[in-house]
Amino acid sequence: LRQSDPVVKVMLPNGQTGWLISTYEDAAAVLKDPRFIKDMTKFVGQEHPSVFSKNMLFSDPPDHKRLRGLVQKGFTPQRIESMRDHIQEIADRLLDAVSGKDRLNLIDDYAFPLPIIVISEILGVPTEDQDKFRVWSNSIIEASNQKMGEDVTRHMNEFIAYLKEWFAKVREQPGDDMISELVIAENQGDRLTEEELYGVVTLMIIAGHETTVNLIGNGVLALLEYPEQRKLLQDRPELIQGAVEEMLRYNGPVEFSTSRWASEDLEFRGQLFQRGDLVIVALDAANRDPAQFEDPDLFDITRGKSPHLAFGKGIHLCLGAPLARLEGEIAVNTLLRRFPDFALEGEIGDLEWRPGMIVRGVKEIP
Ligand code: HEM
Repeated sequence: LRQSDPVVKVMLPNGQTGWLISTYEDAAAVLKDPRFIKDMTKFVGQEHPSVFSKNMLFSDPPDHKRLRGLVQKGFTPQRIESMRDHIQEIADRLLDAVSGKDRLNLIDDYAFPLPIIVISEILGVPTEDQDKFRVWSNSIIEASNQKMGEDVTRHMNEFIAYLKEWFAKVREQPGDDMISELVIAENQGDRLTEEELYGVVTLMIIAGHETTVNLIGNGVLALLEYPEQRKLLQDRPELIQGAVEEMLRYNGPVEFSTSRWASEDLEFRGQLFQRGDLVIVALDAANRDPAQFEDPDLFDITRGKSPHLAFGKGIHLCLGAPLARLEGEIAVNTLLRRFPDFALEGEIGDLEWRPGMIVRGVKEIP
């Protein structure tokens, strides 16, 4: 596709038609181009399709800047670096719980709970409720794939009820956490509407649940696929930063960007887009483009600085990137150090991948 039809009209699994962009150069260009916008309500003439979607990821300037600005200070590299020791403790605690056993499920026992505990603490929601959040965030992702079954609707209603109760509690007694800061911003009227409060908190929960788990999972799979790279990292743990960048490039957790829309009739790489056309960027395809990366299908943790698009680009560049990187570095190195001989039960090719278009990861790694 990258060679024959780099900008191509396709039918997506959810039945919509849209333009799919697959080369690195075009992907980076679309992500930076202000003619491609995120707020589709301008075209379909309706309210946001879900109570959860009024957030920075689905907004354009100036709303985008305001919404991103409200949570940005919680994610600066300095703020995240200050969490290093605590994240290390969480990783060790999770591995303590399985040491002595001869089998672990890397996803359920480690890759999933680690980022959930961290994001729950940042937001100030009880870590004990993590199982509920897992079900709800899965349902919201399914809803975004247009699979609105009975369960999905019920879960979304339960989630709204939970947040409503939580916000009421926080309004009475704000704490030193991100939801309290957002509720205070909501009280200040013009900074955040109630709908935006739901949207921003939900985005943080979903982003915290559905992404880093797959950085850790897909990263460990790459190490299992390339034993000599695993050995190199085991011998030289200081290579971990480059290793995580390569994991993000080689097996990125977010396969496609979220939807963008052409804001006007326009020409892009010789194709005519009409106002309102849907545009999707294949991030993982761009990250394996031979025009940008030498030997792109090879997993090589010594590539050095990588301009991969795993976190997107432009104004929507992932806000959680410094946190995800730190979590990935600590999780992978701690696993290699504590369980140096870990091995996959079964074959990589038999692992089951999660369905859906945006998030890429396996269901279990035994
Ligand atoms: C945006 C990837 C972890 C919060 C994005 C985008 C990508 C991405 C590709 C842009 C999507 C687009 O432009 O269509 C990832 C990956 C992660 C990760 C690969 C883990 C390895 C996180 C975490 C958080 C987070 C842990 C926060 C807790 C966000 C937010 C946005 C975003 C708030 C929207 C930014 C904006 O619109 O300005 N992420 N993400 N992400 N991510 Fe992440």
